[in-house]
Amino acid sequence: MKSTRRTLMVAGALAGVCALGLSMTAGSASAADKIVIHFSHVVAPDTPKGKAADKFKELAEKYTNGRVEVQVFPNSQLYKDKEELEALQLGAVEMLAPSLAKFGPLGIKQFEAFDLPFLFPDYDTLHKVTQGPVGKEMLGLLESKGIEGLAYWDNGFKIMSANSPLHKPDDFLGLKMRIQSSKVLEAEMNALGAVPLVMAFSEVYQGLQTGVVDGTENPPSNMYTQKMHEVQKYATLSNHGYLGYAVIVNKKFWDGLPDDVRGELDKAMKEATDYGNGIAKEENDKALAAMKAAGTTEFSELTPDERKAWVKALTPVRAQMADRIGADTIKKIEDAVGTN
Ligand code: LMR
Repeated sequence: MKSTRRTLMVAGALAGVCALGLSMTAGSASAADKIVIHFSHVVAPDTPKGKAADKFKELAEKYTNGRVEVQVFPNSQLYKDKEELEALQLGAVEMLAPSLAKFGPLGIKQFEAFDLPFLFPDYDTLHKVTQGPVGKEMLGLLESKGIEGLAYWDNGFKIMSANSPLHKPDDFLGLKMRIQSSKVLEAEMNALGAVPLVMAFSEVYQGLQTGVVDGTENPPSNMYTQKMHEVQKYATLSNHGYLGYAVIVNKKFWDGLPDDVRGELDKAMKEATDYGNGIAKEENDKALAAMKAAGTTEFSELTPDERKAWVKALTPVRAQMADRIGADTIKKIEDAVGTN
């Protein structure tokens, strides 16, 4: 009995040591091998981009069995628009999803084609570019900047807002309109007779509240989650332009990942993209309904005649910007969407 108990005790102690040793090995190995992806973005978690980023985190951690940890920093918590691109290139963060309107300062002007007014009538048409060869080729342009483009994420179609009604192009005369850092958006506001002002997304609410700017453009999901409707009396459901994102990573970081890990992250990104793009329209519809219910902003549709006047005022922006964006890029996009 005695010896049996002793044997059991020794075996138990050994098992304990082994278990401890194993867990120590496993613990230290996993701590050393842990790959952390800092994913910075500027919008609220409760938006198409915020939800897609959180979905990527969930799937990336699941598919790599926790070897990868994705830390998502929403709402410009870490960096504002321009800073986040610099931080990515320096390797201070690994992943971002800036809007396609923000790549100009980096020297990638071709993405500003996505800002051209009235080029994409709906998501399906837009996807012919972002989910086809033209979109892929455009992501490839980022490589020369030390950036790998992984996917396009949708937000939606923009509405115009201000504290005065915006029915006709003339209604924009002299209004200070906040824009993203895109020359196409600058040309768009100039074509309407407005005064464009580039401002970081995190500063827009305050800019509108204090009157530094009179109005702005954004899809409903951004307008609602930043509470812009509380400081904008009028909005026109013009759907005059698209807002979407390129999900990008620091190329050196991405290329340095073990192949198996990169494979799992690719899979997670593909599924997060399908998820995010699948909910984008609904998220914007819900945000618009919530703003209508809040009653602080009067929303109006363009009449067919008003729409004609907007199209007439804004279509010349395409020719004006051809040199900047590249006539070849515009042509490829027009061919893909079937406007040629
Ligand atoms: C903006 O600055 O208006 C947008 O690009 C914000 C965003 O990321 O959706």
